[in-house]
Amino acid sequence: MPKTPSFSVSTPIFYVNDAPHIGHAYTEVAADVLARWHRQAGDDTYFLTGTDEHGQKILRTATANGVAPKEWADRLVESAWKPLLDTINISNDDFIRTTDARHEAGVATFLQKLYDDGHVYAGEFEALYCVGCEEFKPKSEIVDGEGAFAGEKVCAIHSKPLELLQEKNYFFKMSAFQDRLLALYEEHPEFVQPASARNEVIAFVQQGLEDLSISRTSFDWGIPIPWDSSHVTYVWFDALLNYITARGYGANPADPAAELQHWPAVQIVGKDILRFHAVIWPAMLMAAGLEVPTNVFAHGWLLVGGEKMSKSKLTGIAPNEITDTFGADAFRYYFMRAVSFGHDGSFSWEDLAARYQAELANGFGNLASRVLAMNAKYFESRVPEAGEETAADAAIRELAASVARRADEKIEGFAIHEAIAAVWELVDALNGYITEQEPWALAKDPAQRGRLGTVLFTASEGLRVLAELLAPVIPEATGKLWTALGAEEALGALTAQPIREAGTWGRLPVGAQQHALAVLFPRIEAETPTTGGAAQ
Ligand code: MSP
Repeated sequence: MPKTPSFSVSTPIFYVNDAPHIGHAYTEVAADVLARWHRQAGDDTYFLTGTDEHGQKILRTATANGVAPKEWADRLVESAWKPLLDTINISNDDFIRTTDARHEAGVATFLQKLYDDGHVYAGEFEALYCVGCEEFKPKSEIVDGEGAFAGEKVCAIHSKPLELLQEKNYFFKMSAFQDRLLALYEEHPEFVQPASARNEVIAFVQQGLEDLSISRTSFDWGIPIPWDSSHVTYVWFDALLNYITARGYGANPADPAAELQHWPAVQIVGKDILRFHAVIWPAMLMAAGLEVPTNVFAHGWLLVGGEKMSKSKLTGIAPNEITDTFGADAFRYYFMRAVSFGHDGSFSWEDLAARYQAELANGFGNLASRVLAMNAKYFESRVPEAGEETAADAAIRELAASVARRADEKIEGFAIHEAIAAVWELVDALNGYITEQEPWALAKDPAQRGRLGTVLFTASEGLRVLAELLAPVIPEATGKLWTALGAEEALGALTAQPIREAGTWGRLPVGAQQHALAVLFPRIEAETPTTGGAAQ
């Protein structure tokens, strides 16, 4: 029997120093759309997300709030990060916290193995550290401060002063992996995507790799180094390992890789954390004799006022500010459609509201309600029978097959925005088809009864295809449409429909009982806040 294709995906794990903003939600939705698509295709799918809870950034925030770091993390995870998953309808299979016992044990096992195998040594170190990035900064990311920080060296990303740290640390001999990493990028051009990210990573590694400091002694909020408890593990080294500890690495300490499943995986990351994932992480895995990720895909930033949206710069927008008004489906659709995946995109309320109205409400929602209302009126809410096919009907049938095939190819290539754009060709074509075929006019002429059936069958089948192809992006609306089409009883659950066969025509059974459809994307009356700029 052929092996079931598999698809395993991870988001980065999120710092719990603060509540999520839409930039974090964006990463989650992208990974979720990919996971839902593959799950619906029948691939053996696994989707992991979670939280990054150790290190100085969390420790300082907790201390400033007068609570212990674990208490702070618990509070944020329960009140903000887990609820985010419901707010935007995320279908993760697991949620890992770096304070989970399974993770802490797995990290200790991994470190001990690297130490025993000679990949770690003790040394001394002095460098400029950014607590926001939790990273010793390379020269290229150190700039002169301005305003209150004039005369100081600041982080190019956070614009906050860097701290000079001098410590005895343990080092990972990362420099030894330079050639193997360059060979990886060369032999597997798909490893780092998009191409711009790959070029950046290659240029960085070609400059020469230094060894990596992997322990800290000046604070204790972290996982103790197993052979020297006066050190805790560097937070990034700890965090990156979540991808395998959640997947079973270390569950059997005598044979740490024995229980590792769903690995290797696709890693969706923001471009700001590309180097950690495309350089440090594969080097760590190579040292441990484990497989590297299948792909590291770096998406762009959501920008506000031309800058990366961030809570520390007070430009963060909470996801529920959008979902409370527009709903989770619209959130998911908007960011996946309006921002080309792999590039930056500016968020604006005006653009969101305009696309909601034009594309979701008028384009898709209206199409669904018109077709179902006509089926109700002219065919007693049953799927009509199609008669002879004209060129116009055939064009819809062929387009449905074509968009289904192209959307799948685009998802394979992580071009989520292009996959949705392809599917939307069918939304637009169906709207045009109805306008041209004028079923309301056909209904007035009893001699045209057969033609009316063909037109409304074609439109209903088109909606069936759309429901299947859009389910990963707008699961709520398509679920309602699926039931209303009568497909739930006739074909089973929407999420069980094989998405790669969505374009196969004629699956909706003639005569199937349909149901009333509530408005999918109601008109938004409320005033929305305004931000400058248009998308892209
Ligand atoms: N904890 C680390 C990741 C460790 S993974 C082993 C971290 N956390 S984070 O909470 O700061 O960011 C998590 C993700 O959210 C990153 O991929 C980051 O790029 C993404 N985003 C944060 N702000 C964003 C935008 N303004 N726009 C798009 N994505 C953004 O980094």
